[in-house]
Amino acid sequence: MTALSVSTSSAASLRADALVIGVAKGPKGLVVASGAEAVVEAFEGKLAEVLTTLGATGAEGEAVKLPAAAGLKAPLVLAVGLGEAAEGAYDADALRRAAGVAARTLAGIKKAALLLPAESAEEIEAVALGGLLGSYSFGTYKGAGSAKEPVGELVVLAARKGSKDAKAAVERATAIGEEINRARDLINTAPNDLHPKAFAAIAQAAGKEHGLKVEVLDEKALAKGGFGGILGVGVGSANPPRLVKVAYTHPKAKATLAFVGKGITYDSGGISLKPAGHNETMKCDMSGAAAVFAAVVAAKRLGLQVNVTAWLALAENMPSGSATRPGDVLRMYGGKTVEVLNTDAEGRLVLADAIVRAGEENPDVIVDVATLTGAMVLALGNRTFGVMANDDELRTRLHNTAEAVGEQSWPMPLPADLRKAMVETTIADLQNMGERMGGGLVAGLFLKEFVAEGIDWAHLDIAGPAFHEGAPYGYTPKGGTGSAIRTLVRFAEDTAGA
Ligand code: BES
Ligand code: MN
Ligand code: ZN
Repeated sequence: MTALSVSTSSAASLRADALVIGVAKGPKGLVVASGAEAVVEAFEGKLAEVLTTLGATGAEGEAVKLPAAAGLKAPLVLAVGLGEAAEGAYDADALRRAAGVAARTLAGIKKAALLLPAESAEEIEAVALGGLLGSYSFGTYKGAGSAKEPVGELVVLAARKGSKDAKAAVERATAIGEEINRARDLINTAPNDLHPKAFAAIAQAAGKEHGLKVEVLDEKALAKGGFGGILGVGVGSANPPRLVKVAYTHPKAKATLAFVGKGITYDSGGISLKPAGHNETMKCDMSGAAAVFAAVVAAKRLGLQVNVTAWLALAENMPSGSATRPGDVLRMYGGKTVEVLNTDAEGRLVLADAIVRAGEENPDVIVDVATLTGAMVLALGNRTFGVMANDDELRTRLHNTAEAVGEQSWPMPLPADLRKAMVETTIADLQNMGERMGGGLVAGLFLKEFVAEGIDWAHLDIAGPAFHEGAPYGYTPKGGTGSAIRTLVRFAEDTAGA
């Protein structure tokens, strides 16, 4: 894994394999951003000209390499585009994206120094986090030597006077970035390797490593406890389901957050089988569980003054002779009955049990995270998650939190009229399908039925951004992205600080 560090040495004397500088699109062509003064000097003021000759424009995503000029200890300079030149400071996400591009471009080298325009602790953290996230690659199944190693070390340059803050900022980025990269590994791991039991074991090991309390309910315990939703989804698979609780507590905490994650380690659709073309990436259906798991570990690593409990609702949705049929009625945890009309609407079933269970501990807020509906992808596209809630303020707060950390989200309603079709024609209390139109909201309304009276609850439908099928961009790799983790961590931080 890529190591992050801070240095206060001068850029000219820094021993590294590459120096990364920022360039941007100015009104009169390419401009070199601040932070790169030593490099500009070594090129005798001609750096912008040289880069322009090489075809660089400063556009976002651009990465242009050139041999370093005499006077620099590093042999290589990499100029990464920041987009439009900023009057003052650059937007934190522009810095994260540029650092991400640099880290990915430099895969295979040992040590790179980042001389991007970052002065404040927030900017330094952004550069460090972007670098760590951009360095990610998934090599589990590749033969040795068949892929470039991620860049070995990223050094963020900081001014001597603010070096203490810079160090803390880079430590924060390390904790958050490593947990996001770990979540990406979980999402990318093939579903024959990451079934519910394997995921639970990983949570247990992480609990031991970081001093978190982990409780695992296996299929027997789930049956004894009456978790009909999780069992009903998992019963068709040779890999039985699990409910995992990971608890972080702080002695001075004034609030408790419950994060509930959808953990379908593979979603075939069950008896309502998905057609080919719709199931190849369904290993990503545990991205919500990976997100809440990463968030609670990060909360612990950051020592946040808040209690955070992550609930991982893990099951594999498979068709078989023992699988739940369309038409079956499940008795959910807490006693409500659900008629399963489509076994592919399984996420809401495992989440319902976990939300009821989480509610029993009286948290101040429940946030669930789930790759819940294709309808949300149709509505918001591949890079934006939907935010629903039973409280307008909480929904706004989560949307704003996401924005603050550079994650795209949008508030979505829970229109009361869509509830009718879920309760009126079923032989049970509820059915797991409603109207086809507004399917993402219907799923949200289903979950809302399971939230205990008086608890603020929000639902993040990350079906779009959880898994990226195209070419990497910015700090986003191909495959699992780690969507919603930064939002959850910042939400916990804000709760701790409030
Ligand atoms: N896991 C899927 C949703 C999904 C779709 C995630 C695309 C990521 C990308 C979910 O379990 C599902 O199958 N939802 C159905 C619900 C329908 C049967 C009511 C859907 O969206 O089609
Ligand atoms: Mn499904
Ligand atoms: Zn699913």
